[in-house]
Amino acid sequence: MDGLSRRKMLMTGGALGALGALGAATPADARPPWTWAPSSSVANSGAGADPQWVWDEEADPVLAAVLDRGGIAAINEQLATWTRNDQALPTGLPADLREFMNTARQLPSWADRDKLDRASRINAKKGIYIGALYGLGSGLMSTAIPRESRAVYYSKGGADMKDRIAKTAKLGYDIGATDAYLPQGSMIVTAVKTRMVHAAVRHLLPQSPAWTQTSGGQTTPISQADILVTWHSLATFVMRKMKEWGVRISADDAAAYLHVWQVSAHMLGVRDEYVPASWDAADAQSRQLLDPVLASTPEGKALTDVLLGIVAQLDAGLTRPLISAFSRYTLGDRIGDMIGLSREPILEPLIATAWPLLVAFREGLIPLPAIPAIAWTLEEALRRFVLVFLNEARPIAITIPDTNRPS
Ligand code: HEM
Repeated sequence: MDGLSRRKMLMTGGALGALGALGAATPADARPPWTWAPSSSVANSGAGADPQWVWDEEADPVLAAVLDRGGIAAINEQLATWTRNDQALPTGLPADLREFMNTARQLPSWADRDKLDRASRINAKKGIYIGALYGLGSGLMSTAIPRESRAVYYSKGGADMKDRIAKTAKLGYDIGATDAYLPQGSMIVTAVKTRMVHAAVRHLLPQSPAWTQTSGGQTTPISQADILVTWHSLATFVMRKMKEWGVRISADDAAAYLHVWQVSAHMLGVRDEYVPASWDAADAQSRQLLDPVLASTPEGKALTDVLLGIVAQLDAGLTRPLISAFSRYTLGDRIGDMIGLSREPILEPLIATAWPLLVAFREGLIPLPAIPAIAWTLEEALRRFVLVFLNEARPIAITIPDTNRPS
């Protein structure tokens, strides 16, 4: 993190600390009753229990025991050597952890190799849209998801939030890597490690006074409902926006993109009875789970600032207004206002006119001369943002936390 954003972070951190001390928790989250039918899921059946009260009964007790025993540094050293989907687990891991990981690394019986293979080719064709949407759409939207913002803010990784936000959005991108679920790929490894990190966070965060004061009554973080909220902010949102923008996606590609996310939900520990079987089912679940929870929080605003700070690093801040305007265009004014995006009265209408033209040109629908110059400037800025933010060359190094954010 550069000096400027670190300073900003410290200032915002101080303000948040003061708010925490005053007990600035929002009222317990009011959620609509759970009515989404398990018959809409990949399991096609299930008890229909509200996922708000379901966590991860396989991973949670194992990680709690591992954390209670200590020695996480040595375990993380072992985990760092496990990088390929087809690799045997490191022999030095504790037996209970190994047993869990050996089960958790199995793909579901319904995983379809052909669909996964097809999904891996979508990024090559639509990478600029997908990258921009994960980074500036989903990444920024996560700052309007109170439970996610707070969990991230008060956990160990909250001390370097730029890294944290980048990692969630980058996971979205890695899911689309050409060899994601192939033997030489690394998505199984990433998903199993992430599942273990989430289980560790469930054990650790309830011990954080700052988190407990702001959790809105939730006593254990990262429920299945919470994971699905984030899932929709990534998968469902990206597919919806691409369709809205007129990006041409064949029915087979749309199905393949859904499938890779279905498999990833399963690998992250989501029960099959909650994994949507179709885009219609996903849209319905998203309306029920994601739409009602979006809200502004001090933690979310601090995260937004960090995320846009990454953009400022691109060219001493010149691109930031352009990216803010594009993000507002992508997320809409309601979310834009929630997370404190600046208003850009000149750029906003320009982007609203230029972006659809750029997409239409890229999709082969209109000839080149119809594109205003601002569109190319925007495209170049997005390209650089996607490169820097998603840092394509660097694999996500995931370690199990053993403490919360140091206050
Ligand atoms: C850690 C992805 C849902 C909170 C991580 C990591 C990844 C990730 C890749 C590891 C990064 C690292 O090592 O720093 C995802 C994905 C999700 C999801 C793909 C859903 C599809 C959630 C939700 C919450 C959450 C719903 C909270 C409500 C956290 C926290 C950490 C974490 C607190 C640990 C940060 C630390 O190291 O202290 N997640 N996540 N995640 N995630 Fe998630």
